[in-house]
Amino acid sequence: MQTTLERTLAAELHQLRETGQYKQCNEVQRPQGPRTRMDGRDVIVLSSNNYLGLANHPRVVAAGREALDKFGLGTASVRFICGTMSCHVELERKICAFIGCEAATTFISCWDANAGLIPTLANSPEDAIFSDALNHASIIDAIRLSKGQRFIYKHADLKQLEEMLSTPEAKKARNKLIITDGVFSMEGDVADLPALKELANRHDALLVIDESHATGVLGETGRGTAEHFGVIDHNTVQTSTLGKALGGSCGGYVAGQQVVCEYLVQKARTQLFSNALPPTVCYGSMAAIDVLMSGHEGTHAGTGGRHAGTQAQRHEGEGQRATGATDPNRDLGGAAGTAFEALSGRQLLARLRANVARCRAGVEALGLHTIPGITPIVPVIVGETATAIRMQKALFEEGVFVSGFGFPVVPKGEARLRCQISAAHSFEDIDVALRALAKVAERFPEARGGR
Ligand SMILES: Cc1ncc(COP(=O)(O)O)c(C=O)c1O
Repeated sequence: MQTTLERTLAAELHQLRETGQYKQCNEVQRPQGPRTRMDGRDVIVLSSNNYLGLANHPRVVAAGREALDKFGLGTASVRFICGTMSCHVELERKICAFIGCEAATTFISCWDANAGLIPTLANSPEDAIFSDALNHASIIDAIRLSKGQRFIYKHADLKQLEEMLSTPEAKKARNKLIITDGVFSMEGDVADLPALKELANRHDALLVIDESHATGVLGETGRGTAEHFGVIDHNTVQTSTLGKALGGSCGGYVAGQQVVCEYLVQKARTQLFSNALPPTVCYGSMAAIDVLMSGHEGTHAGTGGRHAGTQAQRHEGEGQRATGATDPNRDLGGAAGTAFEALSGRQLLARLRANVARCRAGVEALGLHTIPGITPIVPVIVGETATAIRMQKALFEEGVFVSGFGFPVVPKGEARLRCQISAAHSFEDIDVALRALAKVAERFPEARGGR
């Protein structure tokens, strides 16, 4: 006999199906890539975080195999008891070298990194957390776990943030954290890091930036939002994932000041009471970072000049590549015909930017509603959740996999198809996907009524 709880669950599931909100998990039958096989159909994948195309890169896969041979499958322990292996130490050193920070500590996911960091640093009602309303769910839930006071400012509204920081309660607070995504996962826009840093400094708050969609994507050498704005320093804590651009497996980290990381190793419950990263992930992610760091020798960034340059110059440099005002292939360093596996990090980043520019220009040319920007997250706003879900299905039948998102993931009336571009896509992949989008959009005129 079913319990009341089971009957309640069944009724809710029924309602999700009835209202078109039931999520289907498609079965991916080949490795993640620009094209794959899903539910028995060959598709172009426009909906993964495989930004650099490293998820099935031979160097990354070989490194994972090497770790399996050297260390076995797993640690069979949490970090502080018997689970810290040389591969974890090596990975954390590499993350520090990559970002240019004092220390890093890894978690089983970036979700756990956020859930470990936020409640640990703001663990009393005397503390205060200031968070952008569109921050990732892991940050929202981590704030719920914290005992600190909460101040949620409207997305990117730094005037409101400043007002909140200036309230008597905030001024009285002991520890203050300002938390933001670097690249917002549903909008694809970039946080105003210089202005946030200035506010944080002025109000004695620690700035935490979640770089999950920025790592390996933004900045001349893919080091993220700080590099993008040319404001790398040692006062910001960052969290990020190994599950997107850096190999696409799993794992996350907190990187920044030694004192913060050391404290987390002592106190963060999601690390203390959960197994360490599998060695395959450590070595695979290290290989992904090596690929990303390659090819920058002799460039401004590779000669140690990455801290230099004004903010405006940085912004303009990336913007030019991303708008595609010039030949998008010009920055491939003569690699247009080279096998993908042989491309350096610099070439991958150039390819990613050329692909992003092509996709963004194509979506705009179709007259669809998007949010302008430079990141590989290209939302197509279609209005109602049911429209997004029906368009997702229609696109799948055309051989393009792209996810539709509706309320509550995004605000009501702003349901969207979220296109995500990878360096591994060819121009042909993008053009085929755009043609399918044009065809499907014809059948859904209501999609043009979106934002
Ligand atoms: C901004 C942001 N933070 C954190 C996460 C969680 O990352 P992970 O998959 O490593 O738990 C994600 C994943 O979607 C994300 O987009």
